[in-house]
Amino acid sequence: MKEINDLIQAMEELLKQALTDINQADSSDALKQIRVKYTGKKGSLNQFTRQMGQLSAEEKPQLGQAISHFQKDFNLAFAEASEAIQAEEMAQALAKEALDVTLPGKRRKYGTRHILTQTRQEIEDFFLGMGYQVIEGPEVELDAYNFERMNLPKDHPARDMQDTFYIDEEVLLRTHTSPVQARTLEIHDFSKGPLKMISPGKVFRRDDDDATHSHQFQQIEGLVVDQGITMADLSGTLLAFSKQMFGEETEIRLRPSYFPFTEPSVEVDVTCFKCHGQGCAMCKKSGWIEILGAGLVHPNVLRMSGIDPSIYSGFAFGLGIERVAMLRNNIDDIRHFYQNDIRFLQQYKGGAY
Ligand code: PHE
Repeated sequence: MKEINDLIQAMEELLKQALTDINQADSSDALKQIRVKYTGKKGSLNQFTRQMGQLSAEEKPQLGQAISHFQKDFNLAFAEASEAIQAEEMAQALAKEALDVTLPGKRRKYGTRHILTQTRQEIEDFFLGMGYQVIEGPEVELDAYNFERMNLPKDHPARDMQDTFYIDEEVLLRTHTSPVQARTLEIHDFSKGPLKMISPGKVFRRDDDDATHSHQFQQIEGLVVDQGITMADLSGTLLAFSKQMFGEETEIRLRPSYFPFTEPSVEVDVTCFKCHGQGCAMCKKSGWIEILGAGLVHPNVLRMSGIDPSIYSGFAFGLGIERVAMLRNNIDDIRHFYQNDIRFLQQYKGGAY
C-alpha cells in the first residue's frame, strides 16, 4: 500500500509543479512546451501511467483516479492560461499594428493652368467668339515659310532682326508665328468664305536672355483675308481685343512701323491701364504701352500663296503672350515664366484644365 500512496503523493507534487509552470508561462509557445513536458508521449504523466501494469487490482483504480484528477486540473488551468495569453497577445498585436487615424493626412498638391496657358486661352476665347479658327503650325519650320513666303528673301537685311537656331540650311526653329499665315493661305478655300484665324505657339530667337528677352517665347498670330479688308477692320478688331484684355476704358493708337510682310505696317499701343494716360513707371511716363505689331497683308505674301491681291486683301497681327501676361499681372521678368518656381506660379492659380 505504501507504494501506491507514494505514487499518488508524487503525482500531487507533479500537478503542483505543472500548475506553477502554467501560471508562469508568458507566451503560447511556452504553454505548448509545458503541455509536451507534462502530458506528451514522453511527458512526466506517462511515467505514472506506465506503472499501471505492475499494480494490484485494488491499486489500479486509485492510480486511475489520480491520473484523471491530474488531467482535469491540468487541462482546466491550461485552458484558462491559454485564453488569457491569447487575449494578451492579440492586444499586443493590435497595439503594434494600430493605425493612428488622428495623424494629419498628406495633402495632395493639384496642378493648375500655367499663367501663360491661362492668358493664351483667354485670348483664344476672345477670337473664337469673333468667329476665328485656332490653327497651329510646326515649331520646326522651313526657311521657305518662316522667311521667304513672308517676303523675306535670303539676302533680306530684316532677317538679321530674327536670327534663329538652324537645323540645316533650309530647316530652322521658327522665329515668329507668321509662317502659319502662308501655310493657311495656301490651303484656304475662299469660295467657302473669308479666312479668319489665329495661331498660338512657341517661337525661338537667337537672343541673350534677360528680363525682357527670352530665346523661346510664345506668340499669337492673327490673320483675316477677304475682299475689301482695310486698316479700319484691323483697328476695330484690335480696339475690341484691347478693351477685353486691358479694360473697357482702353484706347489704342497705331504708329507707323515696318514689317516685310505687311504694308502699311503699324506698332499698336494701348493706353496705360495703370495710370490711364497720366504717365507712370509702367508706361515710362508716355501714357501708352506697346502691345503688338500689325498691318495689312503685303501683296507679295498673298501672291506667293496663289491669291490675287487685286481681289483680296487682309490684315495680320502678332503679339507676344508673355508680354500681355507681364503687363496684366505686373510681372517684371520674362524668365519667371520658365523657371517653374512654385512660389511664382502659385500666385496665378488658374484652376484645373
Ligand atoms: N511676326 C512679327 C514679329 O514677330 C509680328 C507681326 C505679325 C507683325 C503679323 C505684323 C503682322 O515681330
